[in-house]
Order: sequence, then C-alpha cells, then structure tokens
Amino acid sequence: METRIDEIGDKIYRLSTFVPDIVPPSGFTFNQFLIMGDDPLLFHTGLRTMFPLVSAAVSRIMPIDKLRWITFGHYEADECGSMNEWLAVAPQAEIAHGMTGSTVSLIDMADRPPRVLSNGETLDIGGRRIRYIDTPHVPHGWDAGVIYEETSRTLFCGDLFTHVGNGPAMVETEIVSPSLAAEDIFGFTSLGPTTAPTIRKLADLAPRMLAVMHGSSYAGNAVVALQDLASAYDTRLRAAMA
Ligand SMILES: [Fe+2]
Ligand SMILES: [Fe+2]
Repeated sequence: METRIDEIGDKIYRLSTFVPDIVPPSGFTFNQFLIMGDDPLLFHTGLRTMFPLVSAAVSRIMPIDKLRWITFGHYEADECGSMNEWLAVAPQAEIAHGMTGSTVSLIDMADRPPRVLSNGETLDIGGRRIRYIDTPHVPHGWDAGVIYEETSRTLFCGDLFTHVGNGPAMVETEIVSPSLAAEDIFGFTSLGPTTAPTIRKLADLAPRMLAVMHGSSYAGNAVVALQDLASAYDTRLRAAMA
C-alpha cells in the first residue's frame, strides 16, 4: 500500500491510501486532509495501522512535529485511530472535537485533553479559519461533525458521499449516485428524521468544494450535490417508514 498526495486546493493536501481488499474488485480509499496555515491542521488521522504510511506522507509536506491541530468527524478507527501516535510525534498538537465526542470518548481515550469546540466555533489556524459544525448522527455517530474552511469554501464532509473505487483526487462528475451505491453496500448512514435537514444546512454554507473521506473529492456544484443527497435520504426514509 502507498499513500498518494494531491494538492486539491491552495495548500490543502489530500493524502489517500487505497486498500484493494475492501469490497473487491472496486477497493476503497482512506483519505486524510492536511490544511496548511501557521498552525497546520489534519482532518482524520487514519487508522492506527496506517500511521507509518500517513505520517510518512505528511512528512513529505511538512515536519510532522509542527502539526498543531488534529481533528476528525467522529470517534472511529479510520477517523482517529492513530490520534495518540500523532500526539506523541507532535508535541504541540491538540485534538479538537465537539462537545459530545470530547466528553464521551476523547477525555478518556486521548493521551492529552482535547480542545472542545462548540457548534459553529471557528479555529484560527494562522491565515485560515476553520469552522466546526455538529452533525449528530449524520452520517453516523452521535458525536459526528464536519469542518468548513472559509477561504476556499471547502466542506470537509467526512463519511458523507462515501464511495468505493480509486478514482481521481478530484472529480466534477456527480458523486451522489456512487455514494448511494455505497450506502446499499455498507448501510453506513444512520437514517432518521434529522438526516436530510442536517445535510441541507451544510448546503446553506454554499461550499465550492467537498473533501470526501472515502472516494474522490468534488469540485462540481457542491450545493446541488448536498441538496440531492438530502433528497435521496428523504426518499429512503419515507420508503422505510411506509
Ligand atoms: Fe465513520
Ligand atoms: Fe470514515
């Protein structure tokens, strides 16, 4: 396995590791995003077993001990499995996450106390502002959240829009259908009455780009993609309740 690096925005790097053994023959990617600023921020740590690969990739971009912020969407192995390995190699690094994840998991599981972010709070990483947004249970996990980089208007949407395969780092072709196909395989979304409204609120941010954790990132009409995804989940919820 190798970790590929692509700069998908100005000093926004996508680190992508393709695992062919997951849902063969398509395979599956695990992506982390490094957002450079005076205080660089990593969104998703990657699996604990992938730490050697991901940390080597980050070190090709910057000295890893200069990492300042470690963030992720929710408490799961691919999102934060190597957080303590990162804390060990980056002495100034702090984990930043929402209130639920911090109090339920991180205060106990992380080797240093997390910086707790309230819903809508922005983090100044030196030259960029990162907004944290709670999205409880969307797509899964009651501690779920996303981050939004205000200058490039990039929504780092975590497991939303998950799709299989090893496509290009960035596409403009629609990603809603591939994500619904992945939903049929994995059932990763906690489908409920707040699913679609939560996704529509993300569309209201008017993002220009979607940074996707599993699959290609998206530089087409991100607002329409979010609205279409919300509508598709609405349809599925109505069908499930019928
Ligand atoms: Fe997840
Ligand atoms: Fe994930």
